[in-house]
Amino acid sequence: MKKVLALTLAAVMVLAFAACSAPAEKEVLTMGTNAAFPPYEMVDENNNIIGIDAEIAAAVAEKLDMELEIKDMAFDSLITAVSSGAIDVALAGMTVTEERKEAVNFSDSYATGIQVVIVTEDSAIASIDDLEGKKIGVQSGTTGDIYCSDTPENGGYGEDAVSRYDNGALAVQALLNGQVDCVVIDNEPAKAFVEANEGLKILDTEFAVEDYAAAIAKENTELLDKFNTALSELKAEGKIDEIVGKYIKAE
Ligand code: ARG
Repeated sequence: MKKVLALTLAAVMVLAFAACSAPAEKEVLTMGTNAAFPPYEMVDENNNIIGIDAEIAAAVAEKLDMELEIKDMAFDSLITAVSSGAIDVALAGMTVTEERKEAVNFSDSYATGIQVVIVTEDSAIASIDDLEGKKIGVQSGTTGDIYCSDTPENGGYGEDAVSRYDNGALAVQALLNGQVDCVVIDNEPAKAFVEANEGLKILDTEFAVEDYAAAIAKENTELLDKFNTALSELKAEGKIDEIVGKYIKAE
């Protein structure tokens, strides 16, 4: 009898232990982005957010044994969403800037971006020097916005020159409609927009070269460390190049 009891007890303990160590729900990694920025982030025909940032975040989440959840929001609310903890991380082709660094931490960089100018094919604008007195479309809160709306002394064109749109696609739409004379935006989305729409071209002159990185809340140094470790492993494994190569074809 004693033996049976002992065995039963042992069995119960084994079961209880199994229950405890059963794979718990994975911790969620919430990423915010603004999914109108191809090929870094865009919405596919099934309404899924795809693109370089989504895939890099998914690869990082897998390394951290976390489940990735992506939230689409306005670009200019991403920094606040990160610092308030509404999202864990922002991956949005986001440029590392000194000003943003005051509000959030940035991971190591995983890509380079260049600010370029999109004009209509018949435009009289041939270089950055021709932008004076022109209407410039930008995505609100982006570096293109920040440079262009700055004062002429600082290399900008002034507040009045700039029309702000919620995303790049809307800025390009405004250019097509003749509401603005050009759009200042990152080179890869610029290429995608020019490819997707007739009658547009990108000027040869570049505005600025920038680093893209993930933004994480200042307090969340644990996630920053884990993110950077995962990112450097992914770089070493060639995974980042593979993801980028899938969306950006070498010229
Ligand atoms: N690189 C620019 C910036 O950081 C634009 C990024 C826009 N990203 C987006 N997903 N809409 O300001």
